[in-house]
Amino acid sequence: MTSPRTSIHGEWSSRMAFVLAATGSAVGLGNIWRFPYITGDNGGGAFVIVYLICILAIGLPIMTAEILLGRRGRQSPINSMRSLAKEEGCHKAWQGLGWMGVVGGFMILSFYSVVAGWTLAYVFRTGSGTFVNATADGVSYIFDQFVSDPERLLAWHTIFMAMSIVVVSRGVSHGLEKAVRYLMPTLFVLLIGMVFYAMSTSGFSLALDYLFTPDFSKLTTSSILTAMGQAFFSLSLGMGAIMIYGSYLPRDVSIPRTAVIVAGMDTLVALLAGLAIFPIVFAYNLEPAQSAGLVFKVLPIAFGEMPGGTLFGTTFFLLLVFAAWTSAISLLEPVVAWLVENHGMTRVMASAWSGLTAWLLGVASLLSLNIWSAYTLFGRNIFGLLEDLTTNIMLPLGGVLIAVFVGWKMRRKSSKHEMDIEGDHIVYNLWIFLIRYVSPLAVAIVLLKVSGLLDWITQLLK
Ligand code: TRP
Repeated sequence: MTSPRTSIHGEWSSRMAFVLAATGSAVGLGNIWRFPYITGDNGGGAFVIVYLICILAIGLPIMTAEILLGRRGRQSPINSMRSLAKEEGCHKAWQGLGWMGVVGGFMILSFYSVVAGWTLAYVFRTGSGTFVNATADGVSYIFDQFVSDPERLLAWHTIFMAMSIVVVSRGVSHGLEKAVRYLMPTLFVLLIGMVFYAMSTSGFSLALDYLFTPDFSKLTTSSILTAMGQAFFSLSLGMGAIMIYGSYLPRDVSIPRTAVIVAGMDTLVALLAGLAIFPIVFAYNLEPAQSAGLVFKVLPIAFGEMPGGTLFGTTFFLLLVFAAWTSAISLLEPVVAWLVENHGMTRVMASAWSGLTAWLLGVASLLSLNIWSAYTLFGRNIFGLLEDLTTNIMLPLGGVLIAVFVGWKMRRKSSKHEMDIEGDHIVYNLWIFLIRYVSPLAVAIVLLKVSGLLDWITQLLK
């Protein structure tokens, strides 16, 4: 048995601090921008149910596994995986899991920062009264104009990335903890306010029906993949973000309980965002399928009409910026920790260099929305490619490798020790069952089906 390691980067001051930070990582654009828009693109209710099943059966068990790996490894994902693979007598290729996380994290951060830039811009747009009494068409037009202007996108993307670099460079307890402590609860309250407003519109019952009455005929294989990818994306799984946060977790905190809280809050925020947005969509006879522009084309209509909407809307977008901020820092942290551990860089230098790299890739994705929009692969521009490749392929793959490592490779003694469990325990047994069989099989089937390989195999077997 190894002696408990400590992290050279520090530790959260309490369980509450970890819960806030992990929730800060999980709750972000994924919940308020991505969840509503992909729900709209994939037809509503049935998609939402598949998503919720993915959270429970795949996301939650993998989140538990990822926190566990982090706390046991106590280093950046790359080094944690190396130490743990060695300890458990596994091949050192398992370190590759950490590497994939670093690369994937960069890719996500690059387009994430672009969208976070939109929310920053919208703070000012809403604040200056642009949307007061604007029509739905007017609001859509403003968004389309905005996205087609590379200079504006670049300015906001740059500001957002700089903000993320600043927080990460200040370190675990000074930067990360402080940022989430006040902002998360405020966002939550504001979102509930938004849902109350939505309840007063004529579209509320239509929205409830749309979100919660499943029509399984609308479900395609690719929407199942999208739902699964979103579960990973929204919970920040598969890329070492939760692992690195777990590495700062104090020894006496219960991992499964914490995972349930974080996943529960994350899901609640996504559903609230849906309940805030779709009533307005229906009240104005808009199309739910508006892709990535949905939130930016719909919410400002409400802000333009409601009493005090300018103030409310400005605060709302401001908090969305904060939600994105606390997520972006968790994408940067794994790389920064690794640069500090292995290359002796200072935290400040490490944050600046890694932020700059992600920024560059982000520039490519923002240009693909306008001047490079003609360059496509599989019908997607660079932005879409990065989003799909990371969310739908890399995250599920990373997640499953985590599940396989903890479920099959790590000794039971080690995982039980880390979970503070002795003997037979129902929660532990259920969890092991889920990460050994359910998550890997579910992800494998979905990936095989989408890539067409499953049909090919069934043809062969006939
Ligand atoms: N979960 C965040 C959101 O919903 C995004 C995010 C942060 C993320 N860190 C991550 C996604 C790590 C995947 C992996 O907005």
